Amino acid sequence: MVGLTGFHLGIGAGNLAVVLGADAGELGRRHRVTYDGLADEYEVKSAYHVENTRTQVERVSSFVAGERRVLDVGCAVGLAMSIMTELCLIPTGVDISAQMASYARRRNPGRTVLIGDFLTANFSSKFDAVYAQSFIHLFPKQTAILAIERMWHLLEDGGVLFISTTVESSSSEGWLAKNDYGGQPVRYRKSWQRGEFVDVLSRGRFRILRTWDLVDPFGKNWMIYIARKAPS
Ligand SMILES: C[S@@+](CC[C@H](N)C(=O)[O-])C[C@H]1O[C@@H](n2cnc3c(N)ncnc32)[C@H](O)[C@@H]1O
Repeated sequence: MVGLTGFHLGIGAGNLAVVLGADAGELGRRHRVTYDGLADEYEVKSAYHVENTRTQVERVSSFVAGERRVLDVGCAVGLAMSIMTELCLIPTGVDISAQMASYARRRNPGRTVLIGDFLTANFSSKFDAVYAQSFIHLFPKQTAILAIERMWHLLEDGGVLFISTTVESSSSEGWLAKNDYGGQPVRYRKSWQRGEFVDVLSRGRFRILRTWDLVDPFGKNWMIYIARKAPS
């Protein structure tokens, strides 16, 4: 784990690391290298995402208003975190890429931005909301199911999950070039069909509160879900 020194190891990393095994470590390593290399371009392009990110964070805040703790999973350059702060939420970011985290820290002075793998990092407290924008499709389906289970465990009772991925007409996964970024680095990508995604959320004990689609400024079509942690 990179950069988690001094961070209390509390909520269930050990068992998950055993379940995920060495492949997850390799996936994390490759994601770290890929997103370190993409961080400068992400930072430049973040200007185009201010408006749509604001809409998404505002909708979450209507379910967790006030000084509530939000974990931004795969926070990248920290744009959503900065909007959360404007809305009086208290964001913590976690990202596997140190380069991304460095931008996020600069943009969010005084906020905690952890550098580490969400799948195996340990968190010292639970959160009122977990915000996972454009994150879940970076993993094989079985790993994504474990990640969603982890989100469930990290939420307080009745806590709220925000989760988004692109809408795809067929289900597939594998190593794919990221064509919309310079150098077109290869990274793991799962394509989720809507029904398949909803099924995983429901099986993961989340009750959907609100869903909508969004076309971003680069023409990508996103399906977005806000869901409440249901009791076990
Ligand atoms: C597609 S970007 C999305 C970033 C941001 N949430 C957004 O919507 O603009 C995915 C982010 O997740 C991070 N990431 C990938 N795997 C991760 C992991 N296992 N744990 C934490 N962060 C990870 C990447 O470094 C990258 O910053």
